[in-house]
Amino acid sequence: MENSSNTVLSVIHKRKSVREFKKGKTIPKETIDTIVKAAFAAPSAINLQPWHFIVIDERAILNALADDLPYAKMLYSTPIAIVVCADTQASELYWEVDCAAATQNILLSVEALDLGAVWTAVYPQQKRVSFVQKLLNIPENIIPLNVIPIGYPANTDKPKDKYKPQKVHVNKW
Ligand SMILES: Cc1cc2nc3c(=O)[nH]c(=O)nc-3n(C[C@H](O)[C@H](O)[C@H](O)COP(=O)(O)O)c2cc1C
Repeated sequence: MENSSNTVLSVIHKRKSVREFKKGKTIPKETIDTIVKAAFAAPSAINLQPWHFIVIDERAILNALADDLPYAKMLYSTPIAIVVCADTQASELYWEVDCAAATQNILLSVEALDLGAVWTAVYPQQKRVSFVQKLLNIPENIIPLNVIPIGYPANTDKPKDKYKPQKVHVNKW
């Protein structure tokens, strides 16, 4: 039975961190817009939407990020990246989790579009936060949470089975 909930569930279960990419292909602007709009559709506490997104498609900037971010070397081979940023004044208490929800929407929409991506950590590593802020002209009250390289997957990365029934508790722990 094929319906939209099956499609959503299959995308959720197919999603994986992609770290190997085919080189050299650009991503159409409409596709990037689709991904960014999915990010904006995320839930946020009191609907404060404390996020901003920086889409990077300049090779020199992607390379500069890859040079300094220790676990984001995939940026050398992806045509774009999205940096999920949080306005900490817009939501002092919940910006971290709100922006994590937006990040997951990006990762799922990327999977649905047969592209690949991986969350690479910036926050809470202060050195990485300062480096990304400086490189991308980000104001001090805006925190870059992560950098998400996005590209065409080489199809070597596979989803992991992480289901552990012993971690599911019914009624009480
Ligand atoms: C907060 C956070 C930080 C992460 N940072 C990195 C990173 O810097 N580099 C990387 O390659 N993967 C990073 N990952 C991806 C995880 O390694 C990955 O999600 C985990 O191994 C599970 O694999 P899966 O995404 O394929 O299910 C990060 C994920 C999260 C949620």
